[in-house]
Amino acid sequence: MQDKIQFEYNGKVVDLPIFKGVKGEQAIDIRQLRNTTGLVTYDPGYKNTGSCQSAITYLDGEAGLLMHRGYSIEDLCENCSFIEVIHLLIFGNLPTTSEKDEFLNEIREKSLVDEDLKGILKSFPKTAHPMCILASLTAGLVAFTPHLGSYTGIDQMRSSIIKLLAAFPILASWTHRKSRGLPLNYANTSLSYVGNIAYMMFRQPHMEYYPNPIEVKALNKLLILHADHEQNCSSSTVRIVGSSHADLFPSIAAGLSALWGKLHGGANQAVIEMLIQIIKDGNNIQKFIDKAKDKKDPFRLMGFGHRVYRNFDPRSKLLKNIAKEVLGQKKNVDPILETAIELEQRALEDEYFISRKLYPNVDFYSGLIYRAMDIPTKMFTVMFALGRLPGWIAQWIEMRQNNEPIGRPRQIYVGHKSRRLK
Ligand code: CMC
Repeated sequence: MQDKIQFEYNGKVVDLPIFKGVKGEQAIDIRQLRNTTGLVTYDPGYKNTGSCQSAITYLDGEAGLLMHRGYSIEDLCENCSFIEVIHLLIFGNLPTTSEKDEFLNEIREKSLVDEDLKGILKSFPKTAHPMCILASLTAGLVAFTPHLGSYTGIDQMRSSIIKLLAAFPILASWTHRKSRGLPLNYANTSLSYVGNIAYMMFRQPHMEYYPNPIEVKALNKLLILHADHEQNCSSSTVRIVGSSHADLFPSIAAGLSALWGKLHGGANQAVIEMLIQIIKDGNNIQKFIDKAKDKKDPFRLMGFGHRVYRNFDPRSKLLKNIAKEVLGQKKNVDPILETAIELEQRALEDEYFISRKLYPNVDFYSGLIYRAMDIPTKMFTVMFALGRLPGWIAQWIEMRQNNEPIGRPRQIYVGHKSRRLK
């Protein structure tokens, strides 16, 4: 394998080193390109750009592989709890039993937020989208804990990390409880991290709450499947905001805004809305496949396609099994599931989707599972965020540990050359 690329430009021979990762992408190191040639590269959407070196997640889009810190997603999903995967992503190793207990206890101790945060929540209309409220509350957390969140090294930041892991599920559950007119509650510290998320979301004030074990198991897996996905839009946002030396909490708030878009985490809500629209329209699935293929129509098949996967998204394969387990315990079949299965089959047999290697992604089945758990559609992206939080934290910390420079791309100017007022 060559270790450099050579080309001639303006009569000058230019050498650019090739940079090799442990596996996967090999990159041309262009850091000196502008200095030696005056040229920059042009890559809208960063489709062909490696923005950083990372040791957190490995993804092979052609093979449909996803690994965190060297472990496959299938292995983690089958054998670990979400709290263990959180530890793995942020601290680099799976915790021993005592490390896990200590970690959970620290989180439980910090599971309180300032009551004044309820004032911010109260000022939102009941109809506000939960992602909008969650991003605001997460940014607001900075004001109530100004001593936390700035970079001091991973060991010194443990307290900030724990605070965020403890506070985030409280704030997320409050967005749900507000929309349902339920009182705002706090954690039940006798439960697991995931059991507690279910408790905070679903407990009714007038009844005991017993988490449904099948649903808690499914939620555990769902959160693991969303925990990190290398340099996606929201994680890149968290890194780029943090690269200005913005603190951890506001960087995460920015990540939430990026996640909300329907081409990214907002797709899980958009999938269900699309399926409902198809059913209301007479369940004419072919009509919607044709719309998605029509270049003059802006409609896209939600939950299909991925920037990196050119094969099945391994998460969607696992999700399909979880969907079967959770939906299997329900008395009535959700008609949306049948439409989803047929839509998936038709798209997978269609030349348009085959030739472009468009497969169902993580958002295609997750919404059906949330729906079966009685989680409102508008909350789906919040559920994604609960899963992605450890990934964002890990990416932010790594970016600061690697002392990455401020993220500041160049542009190719195409506006007026020069204009005068008089
Ligand atoms: N429906 C119809 N056509 C599609 C779709 C789709 N869902 N996705 C991609 N294409 C077409 C696209 O029009 C293009 O066609 P052509 O080559 O003829 O111009 C080709 O496939 C390549 O697509 P692209 O837009 O260049 O790919 P991208 O990497 O820029 O976009 C994507 C990736 C995920 C934004 C896109 O596939 C999409 O919009 N999917 C629907 C939204 C969605 O499900 N998002 C969730 C993504 S996975 C989880 C997450 O990140 O949160």
